Parts: sequence; C-alpha cells; structure tokens
Amino acid sequence: MIEKTNNIAANQSRNPIFELKNVTKKFGSVLSLKNINLTVYPGERVALVGSSGAGKSTLINLLNGTMNPTTGEVWVWGQNLASLKSASVRQIQRQIGTIYQQLHLVDNLQVIHNVNAGHLGRWSLWQAAFSLMFPLEVNTATRALSQVGIVEKLYQRCDRLSGGQQQRVAIARVLVQDPAVILADEPIASLDPERSREIIELLCQLNAELNKTLVTSLHEWEVARKYYQRIIGLQDGRVLFDYPAKLVTSEMVDGLYKAN
Ligand SMILES: Nc1ncnc2c1ncn2[C@@H]1O[C@H](COP(=O)(O)OP(=O)(O)O)[C@@H](O)[C@H]1O
Ligand SMILES: [Mg+2]
Repeated sequence: MIEKTNNIAANQSRNPIFELKNVTKKFGSVLSLKNINLTVYPGERVALVGSSGAGKSTLINLLNGTMNPTTGEVWVWGQNLASLKSASVRQIQRQIGTIYQQLHLVDNLQVIHNVNAGHLGRWSLWQAAFSLMFPLEVNTATRALSQVGIVEKLYQRCDRLSGGQQQRVAIARVLVQDPAVILADEPIASLDPERSREIIELLCQLNAELNKTLVTSLHEWEVARKYYQRIIGLQDGRVLFDYPAKLVTSEMVDGLYKAN
C-alpha cells in the first residue's frame, strides 16, 4: 500500500495539466516532432507508444520543460512555459518528476544520496552538500524505498544493484520529490518481463492510489493496452492515434511500426 502525501496540484480541478499547441521540434534539419496537439488532464494514465526515433523522448522533454519547442506552445497548468521567468518554470518543474531511460543515478554513491536527489529542487546548496556527509531526511528516503520494495538497499552503492533495483531507486527519487505528475521514459526497456511487470504495476499504483498523473513512453504496446487508460501512437514525429486503450487495435499498432 502506497502512502498518501499532500499534493495540492494533484487535487486541482479538471483543467488540463499539459497542452501542446501545434508543437514542432527540430534538431538541425531533423524534424523530431511535427504539429503536435495534445492535452493531458489530472490523474490520467497515458502511454506514448512508438518505435525508436518516433519522438517519445523529445515529447517527454518538452512536457517537463527541459526542451523548448521550435514552434508552437507548451502550456503547463494553464501557463505558457515560454512566457515564464526561469524561477516560475522551476516551480512548475518541481511538480513534474521524470524517470529518464538512462536513470541518471550516481553509480558510486549510496542509494540514500541518489534518492535524496529528489529534494534538490527544494534544498539549498548547503543542505545538499551537508547531506552528502550526513544524510538528511533518512526517514523520507526509507519510506520511499519501502514503497518501491528495496528498503534494505538504503546504504548500498548504486552500482552494486541490479537493473530492476536501479529502476526502483529512480522511482524512489521521484517519490521523494512528490510531484503531481510522473513522466517515465521507457522505464522497462532494459528489464526482463517479470521485472517489467513489477515496475509498470508500481507506476500504475502511484497513479491509482496517489492520483499522480502518469505519462509513460513504451515500446511494448501490449503492456500499454493492459495497464494504461489512453494510448497515444507516435510515428515519425506525428500523433497517428490518440484513443482510450480499449479502442486501440493491433491493426493500428501495425500501422505505427510500418515504415512510412
Ligand atoms: N538532441 C538531439 N539532437 C539531434 N537529434 C535528435 C536529438 N534528440 C532527438 N533527436 C532526433 O529526433 C528524432 C526523435 O528522437 P527521440 O525523441 O529520441 O525518439 P524516441 O524516444 O521515440 O526513440 C530522432 O530522429 C532523433 O535522432
Ligand atoms: Mg527515447
């Protein structure tokens, strides 16, 4: 059972969290996303499905404001990110937790320090430095690690953990951040089927029990259909379909993976 924490943003009304308005993203001459229009509401559980290079990671980076669109607008909680000062963008980013495919863990540090990195948006530089010697918020980290099922690894170095355990540390770090939204970029790409199931079920539990809005990019569309409410099919930078999961057919998915 996952413990409930205070989360003001998650309990706001049904105004959209994300609105992408005609968004295009270009890297040099590569058009990574093309005219994307997309709305995500609080509490939704959305899977982004598409082959490698379809634009999933780029989309996630636009949602969390770490990338800016080339054209079009990204609105988060009713505000156009491009119109905000960096302090306001950071405030919004504190409410968006991202689990990156590369995890971004510091391998030679203990699990507790990696989990505590979830506080960095709130901590002063002094607190962050002090905590590296004398870990602060041990109770919060312990709680997060028990929620992801590896509490016994608190003082283990990250590079001694298996891939599935490292994935759990990355999720625990997001739990400590306590955001309203969790974006997970291919969280099961490097895991075996059993570990994959556990990680997806854990993310879905965060959505169902804590009302965290969940956007997950995935290769595996069967997983998306089984666990997610809404599936967005991306192909070559475009939204090919955006439907409730139960309406997505294998023909639609075949179209997604067909070379165009
Ligand atoms: N930082 C970047 N610089 C140049 N091209 C990029 C960059 N990020 C993504 N791309 C290109 O944008 C397209 C979409 O990439 P990406 O969003 O990583 O897709 P996915 O996550 O679905 O595999 C690809 O053609 C990729 O090569
Ligand atoms: Mg990717």
